[in-house]
Amino acid sequence: MTRLLDAPERFGPLPQMGGGFIDAIEQSRLVGRGGAGFPVATKWRAVAKRSGGRAVVVVNGAEGEPRSQKDRLVMTWRPHLVLDGAFIAARVLHARRVILYIGERHEKARSAMLRALGERTEPEGALVTVAAAPARYVAGAESAAIHFLNDGVATPTTAPPLPFEQGVDRAPTLVQNVETLAQIGLLARLGQAPATTLVTLAGAVMRTGVLEADRGTTVADAVRGAGGPTESPRAVLVGGYFGSWVEPEVAWQLPLDHETLRRHGLGLGCGVIGLLPARACPVCETAGIMRYLAAESSAQCGPCFFGLRALADACSRISDGSSDGNDLSRLRRWVDEVPGRGACRHPDGAVLFLSSALRVFDREFANHRAHDMRRTA
Ligand SMILES: Cc1cc2nc3c(=O)[nH]c(=O)nc-3n(C[C@H](O)[C@H](O)[C@H](O)COP(=O)(O)O)c2cc1C
Ligand code: SF4
Repeated sequence: MTRLLDAPERFGPLPQMGGGFIDAIEQSRLVGRGGAGFPVATKWRAVAKRSGGRAVVVVNGAEGEPRSQKDRLVMTWRPHLVLDGAFIAARVLHARRVILYIGERHEKARSAMLRALGERTEPEGALVTVAAAPARYVAGAESAAIHFLNDGVATPTTAPPLPFEQGVDRAPTLVQNVETLAQIGLLARLGQAPATTLVTLAGAVMRTGVLEADRGTTVADAVRGAGGPTESPRAVLVGGYFGSWVEPEVAWQLPLDHETLRRHGLGLGCGVIGLLPARACPVCETAGIMRYLAAESSAQCGPCFFGLRALADACSRISDGSSDGNDLSRLRRWVDEVPGRGACRHPDGAVLFLSSALRVFDREFANHRAHDMRRTA
């Protein structure tokens, strides 16, 4: 079985693909790799039904998650596979445009994609353009991508229609992550999508970076494959900033696939696996990430803008010892008030992350609080 990063850098002309290809995607049970893990076939069918020869395919290479590197890697080292996936989507969905939406800071990835585009001699039948995604966390959200491509503003939009109904230039639009499209490329070429997932190992691991995990690979296998932990970890962040802290003894057993993790009430998100060393302060680490996520809100929805700021401030007060002693109970109350009240998943993701911190670092949060109370007494 070919793996994504072992595949030839370039295959020949694209195979012919019709509507039946969506059935093949369905059978492969491929889910999106940009974070939400949404079934790819469902999205393609929704766009195909409305296309009328006008659809647009947006290749999402924004990769705004600070610790993720896998999208940059796949664009840099397997740009033809990403383009294969994008052009196959364009054919199957009768799209007239393909837009490469690549993070403005990912210069190497953009150059590789442009070089690959220049190397393709076969007519692709769709107009290709390139757009630089602003370096903001929310710019990678699909409605933000469409807002940016239509109006030059990379903030999520707050109302329907959804992209598959009316996206770029009001045409039905497919927004798909670059790793997902590379998987599609291989599925079309080989008749089977590789049973692999790209993950980025970060934090207290010997070799940080991207690893292609076969189905069944556990977090422990992946960390071992990266040379092991640099020191004993206090917790593992599974799924990046919209993911969850997990106790190491639980995390080691977890398989790196979206479906199984979902059954454990977790998510692989954008594939970041981060090891927090035992000597680091988990409260300070959590407060830092919450401050970042609060600052990245696009400030359009009150519960997201004000709610995340209040949560981040309370975390910071606990971490720096300036709390009045009530911040921990405030956090526990407020985490239930924010989810589902924004136009995009940003606040939900942030609160999922914070809730896991309150659970896993219960002791540390309580000790910080006790320490603060001693100081203020
Ligand atoms: C705040 C936020 C940021 C996101 N950032 C990215 C990103 O940088 N890259 C990406 O592919 N998807 C990102 N997503 C997910 C996209 O909205 C969308 O689900 C994805 O691009 C669809 O492709 P996929 O189905 O292949 O994963 C983000 C979502 C949210 C809510
Ligand atoms: S939920 Fe937050 S990030 Fe999403 S659109 Fe509203 S303010 Fe912006």
